[in-house]
Amino acid sequence: MSPRLRHLTTLEHLPRETIERLLDRAEALRDACAHGTRKLDVLAGRTVLNLFFEPSTRTRTSFELAARRLGADVINFDIGFSSTSKGEELFDTLHTLEAMHLDAIIVRHKHSGTPDELVRHAMSGVSVINAGDGNRAHPTQGLLDALTIRQHRPDFDNLTVVICGDIRHSRVARSDIHAFSTLGIKQIRLCGPTPLMPTAEEFPHCRHYDDFDAAIDGADAVIMLRLQKERMASIDLPDEAAYFAHYGLDQRRLARAAKGCLVMHPGPINRGIEIAPDVADGAQSRILEQVGNGVFVRMAVLNEVLAR
Ligand code: NCD
Repeated sequence: MSPRLRHLTTLEHLPRETIERLLDRAEALRDACAHGTRKLDVLAGRTVLNLFFEPSTRTRTSFELAARRLGADVINFDIGFSSTSKGEELFDTLHTLEAMHLDAIIVRHKHSGTPDELVRHAMSGVSVINAGDGNRAHPTQGLLDALTIRQHRPDFDNLTVVICGDIRHSRVARSDIHAFSTLGIKQIRLCGPTPLMPTAEEFPHCRHYDDFDAAIDGADAVIMLRLQKERMASIDLPDEAAYFAHYGLDQRRLARAAKGCLVMHPGPINRGIEIAPDVADGAQSRILEQVGNGVFVRMAVLNEVLAR
């Protein structure tokens, strides 16, 4: 059996067995919840800190809910009201909070690599979970996307998945690609305008497209991404209408995909920019299922790193 994780900063290089163990546990928790189990006490007496230096709706609330459903205590550290905004060093903040006897830190930060810095500086015994760092990794999103696909299409060695939009600045895309590759998804297609695409060297095993009609042809799942303008330096982008015309998901394009193609998006969605409202709310949309699965995946991860 692959060793139990102490931290989760990225899915890159995680063994397939570890990823499958987390997905299986998330699925078991989802089944238990469907049968009425809403609260467990496996993490009773443990304290989890939500340390978010960037805005978040889904990720932060679902980590909080996940921790509470396992019986842990949760502290939400609000950066806007903290000394960090007065210039306190990240590690001073860390040690101050650690003195309150934490068991896990869930961190989101605009700089890639911050979670690993925390792993290096954190007191032994404290687990670090990455809730998104720069454009590098968002491991729980990668897991919840894999879980959502597996729920509908477990035949991974037969599947074609398209990721479309601002891949270059997307930590979600990177973690998705790591999860999907390790789990043996047959074909991963990446599509977007050249300035928003990763280099061919970064993901040599993925197929690169700039024509969305060609990329979506026969696809079994399509993951749409937001334009992450906060992470773009100075990129010349088409205006929103032109962007939607080339890279937006509408019913016409969706009809080119395989029958029943899963429509996914990590959120927050921008209706009419990367996805048409009737597709986001349509019968093939799995966007709210992704949100629901996020809670179970985060329960599975907290259980993995914290359960005694
Ligand atoms: C994503 C993020 O913050 O990386 N959102 C999320 O966690 N659900 C994607 C995004 O912000 O576009």
